[in-house]
Amino acid sequence: MSTIFLTGGAGFIGSFVAEKLLGRGDTVVCVDDFNDYYDVTLKEARVEPFTHNPNFTLYRKDIRDLAAMKEIFAKHRIDKVCHLAARAGVRASIKDPLLYTEVNVDGTTNLLECCRIFNVKHFIFASTSSVYGNNKKIPFSEDDPVDHPISPYAATKKATELIAHTYSHLFGIRCIGLRFFTVYGPKGRPDMAAFLFADGIMNGTAIQVFNHGNMERDFTYIDDIVDGVLRSIDADELRYEIINLGNSHTVKLTTFIELIERGLGKTANKEFCEMQPGDVPKTHADITKAQRLLGWQPHTKIEKGIEHFIQWYVNEYKRS
Ligand SMILES: NC(=O)c1ccc[n+]([C@@H]2O[C@H](COP(=O)([O-])OP(=O)(O)OC[C@H]3O[C@@H](n4cnc5c(N)ncnc54)[C@H](O)[C@@H]3O)[C@@H](O)[C@H]2O)c1
Repeated sequence: MSTIFLTGGAGFIGSFVAEKLLGRGDTVVCVDDFNDYYDVTLKEARVEPFTHNPNFTLYRKDIRDLAAMKEIFAKHRIDKVCHLAARAGVRASIKDPLLYTEVNVDGTTNLLECCRIFNVKHFIFASTSSVYGNNKKIPFSEDDPVDHPISPYAATKKATELIAHTYSHLFGIRCIGLRFFTVYGPKGRPDMAAFLFADGIMNGTAIQVFNHGNMERDFTYIDDIVDGVLRSIDADELRYEIINLGNSHTVKLTTFIELIERGLGKTANKEFCEMQPGDVPKTHADITKAQRLLGWQPHTKIEKGIEHFIQWYVNEYKRS
């Protein structure tokens, strides 16, 4: 049993990671600032089931606050860090790049500093498929150059990969950066496609379909992502690795919308729009490295994953 310092535990991915860790008997020290980037009641609802678990401690703190982070590290004997807190979202990062560098870059550096000071040797962190920018080579491989990010969000995530490498090299901290590819599922993020489309279809308002529908995404189901995160937390033999976690199967945006329409039994009112600045037309993960290093394999087909999302959206989210 380990004590895991988990950041972003009230977030979409973080709350599922917390549930899995607690379920197998680990202790979770969770930090989340419950900021209002999206509906805070959703964040509160995600952590509510853990609040009575004696193995779960919640700190409503900001990772930018180094003194607060040090205090938490001093209080608990942390074995490993799973750092998922971030300002996520490409479009919002163009509006407020300084917030993104402060939270994503400075915040991550604060946590690596805590690892150095408190001798914590295992640091998992969330990167993103966005670092590939307009990469022309498909599928995207960890060996592809990613020196030309096209949004502040992507640039901050690439920066965290670099700073983590430095700490790994200098202080022998095992750092594993996971490049997640468009994660979806129950309790997901309201600013992401599945949610936006479901809201529009249910409310009868127009949904914006960017690049006139000529978009493809490697949608990856939450359970598969969580499995990859847990495998990384347990991967004690690695040193510094950047690893793609994607379904490795692209889906057309129009197909994705059709599946949501079918699940809700309603047709979308589509407004076809230009490509958004910072956005990319296609993502596709090469996952041979995740298979080789983590023994990871995604299992959830898009039809099943959307079914689970719609069930939650209709039966739990819309009613609460
Ligand atoms: N969801 C995806 O498709 C996806 C894809 C690629 C990468 N990622 C990355 O995965 C991680 C988790 O993403 P998610 O979809 O669960 O996002 P999320 O926004 O639901 O979760 C992030 C959590 O971090 C918290 N947080 C933000 N700033 C903080 C701060 N300064 N201090 C403390 N807590 C803070 C938020 O309150 C939130 O609960 C992020 O690092 C994100 O960049 C997500």
